[in-house]
Amino acid sequence: MSTNDYYQTNDQGHLMIGGVDALKLAENFGTPLVVYDVAQIRKQFNALKQAFVAGQVDYAISYASKAFTSIAIYQVINELGGHIDVVSGGELYTALKAGFPTEKISFHGNNKTKDELLMAVENNVGVIILDNFHEIELLKQVLHETNKKVQVMLRITPGVSAHTHEYDQTGQEDSKFGFDVRSGQAEKAFLQVKAEEQMELIGLHAHIGSQILETEGFNLEVEKLMQLVQEWKQKYDYQPQVLNLGGGFGIRYTAKDRVIGLGTFVEQIIASVRTLAEQYQLNVPAIWVEPGRSIVGEAGYSLYTVGSRKDVPGLTPYVTVDGGMGDNIRPALYQAEYEALVAKRPAAEPVEKVHLAGRYCESGDILIDQACLPKTKPGDVIAVLATGAYGYSMASNYNRVPRPAVVFAENGQAQEVVTRETYDDLIKNDRFYQEK
Ligand SMILES: Cc1ncc(COP(=O)(O)O)c(C=O)c1O
Repeated sequence: MSTNDYYQTNDQGHLMIGGVDALKLAENFGTPLVVYDVAQIRKQFNALKQAFVAGQVDYAISYASKAFTSIAIYQVINELGGHIDVVSGGELYTALKAGFPTEKISFHGNNKTKDELLMAVENNVGVIILDNFHEIELLKQVLHETNKKVQVMLRITPGVSAHTHEYDQTGQEDSKFGFDVRSGQAEKAFLQVKAEEQMELIGLHAHIGSQILETEGFNLEVEKLMQLVQEWKQKYDYQPQVLNLGGGFGIRYTAKDRVIGLGTFVEQIIASVRTLAEQYQLNVPAIWVEPGRSIVGEAGYSLYTVGSRKDVPGLTPYVTVDGGMGDNIRPALYQAEYEALVAKRPAAEPVEKVHLAGRYCESGDILIDQACLPKTKPGDVIAVLATGAYGYSMASNYNRVPRPAVVFAENGQAQEVVTRETYDDLIKNDRFYQEK
């Protein structure tokens, strides 16, 4: 087996994922197929963990499960000692079915319903991350009705926007998420929550963006939050037990992405928190992070089979595969870029640029606009790399195409963890119209 930084091959030169030949995966499970290299997931998680352990702070790594949700990923994260964040009743339900320890679940979302809050409270979810005043009211009602207590954090919009694609920014003031600091919303929310005996405010949360490839944004975020803490300590004698700094650590999608090690983000964050805690004479809080993309993104591969090809003289050819925007909406949604390989000969020299097109009825369904590939023919298996985050989790049944299977591969073994949808799955909620 040979390895370069981005993929492994076997003696026949085929792409290997988790020690399994990608051609065998395609043959055994069909395409399109989403495959995770589980060892890579563990490696990413452990890189964060080691940096926290070395930094000697209390910490939690809370996997942002919107990046990829399934019973199997919750099992792996639990085994690694992680927490998770969920953003809906559906994600919470999946976590409960996976047997995930409820005290390690944080519940996010900018419009949680009363039913979802009730579900969280009844199941003793660890933390509810409060996002807005409406939610504070709903949670108050739920706590009065159930006579229970819950730990909460306030999601703060610190006014920091990390350098990233504009669709991914959630930390600025003009954002639908969280309580704004400058206008005084955050302080008002703080006072409301502190007045509630059934809510224990354990900390503050912020998330400044996604696919962040430098540490500066996190330094600014920590500074804003620590300034707020200093203010609240002086005014109200309050200090949070936890500072949750969200996710957003960037990954390598293409050669253009200059990634920094996950440990570097954590080292910087810890250094910033310590420095400011000393400067403002505050306790060093536990530091939580919520990585999604960086845990599962590069571990995921999408395997497709080549079908039709269209050549128009003088124009870039279209090579179409059997999946597309239904299993990976990111290129169509925000021009996300990926790289692709031919699974049988990933090391083959590229000889042409093609539009790697999806099978869906939208002109925008192009997985890779300018894919550099060797000559391909119908039946070839193509692997698109680093599709593990926000791919399957955003999948749809557009054009009534069943969603693909998901396979976990590790130590040369492959196991289906989400089965492929069938045509019957597609119509299971349909009812005949009874004309009256
Ligand atoms: C609140 C919050 N935490 C964590 C994340 C995870 O971000 P990423 O997958 O970029 O690490 C997101 C992503 O949208 C988020 O909104």
